Amino acid sequence: MISARMSRPVRVLLLTSSVVVSALATACGTQKVSVSRSQPGPYRGAVIFNQRCSGCHTLSYAATNGSAANVRTKEPNNGPNFNIRCERPMSRVVYAIENGGFSGAIMPPNVVVGQDAIDVANFVATYAGRQAPPIPGVAPCTTKPVGTLPAVTAATATTTAKKAAVTPSAAKPPQKKATAARTAKQTQGRTPVATP
Ligand code: HEC
Repeated sequence: MISARMSRPVRVLLLTSSVVVSALATACGTQKVSVSRSQPGPYRGAVIFNQRCSGCHTLSYAATNGSAANVRTKEPNNGPNFNIRCERPMSRVVYAIENGGFSGAIMPPNVVVGQDAIDVANFVATYAGRQAPPIPGVAPCTTKPVGTLPAVTAATATTTAKKAAVTPSAAKPPQKKATAARTAKQTQGRTPVATP
């Protein structure tokens, strides 16, 4: 391939082009989670974030680019860019996950539950905000406490899961509620029939 008989400019050209090609190959499609496996919780959180939150949020440590890159091409479901937005303590992230963001209007609630939610929250709180521009008088994100969460118990895992299951019925039209109230009123006036 690169032989000693080749002129120096040719050798330099071949070497540089192979470096450029491999650099491009790395840039395309091989972006990976860049959290060390030696931190099992945040690493697992980053992998889950990459799978479940990537469509709407940008966070370089999870190799995701879902936030709007440009305000003019922004879509309503583009979520905050966590490269520049601080998300500490992690209870904030848990709140957002359980309620579908702070407004509850766009982000789907309970995309992840139980231990998955805790690991994702731990990851986001630890790694978000690292590219935030410094603001005079505001403490940099990395100096704020990440906080802790109670370990997931069987009870919390099911409550969170139950909440997710309950959500669709909560969106029933108000018409049904009115009917239910009417039926209740009608039954009220009646003498209870003894069940044999
Ligand atoms: C369908 C798009 C979508 C998905 C998927 C999504 N989010 Fe969001 N997220 C949003 C939007 C939009 C907002 C801002 C909405 C708001 O303020 O109500 C947001 C806000 C947030 C916030 C900040 C709270 C706030 O309201 O400003 C956090 C933290 C967050 N998301 C974490 C996550 C995590 C973690 C996941 C994956 C488990 C996730 N999001 C999945 C769209 C999404």
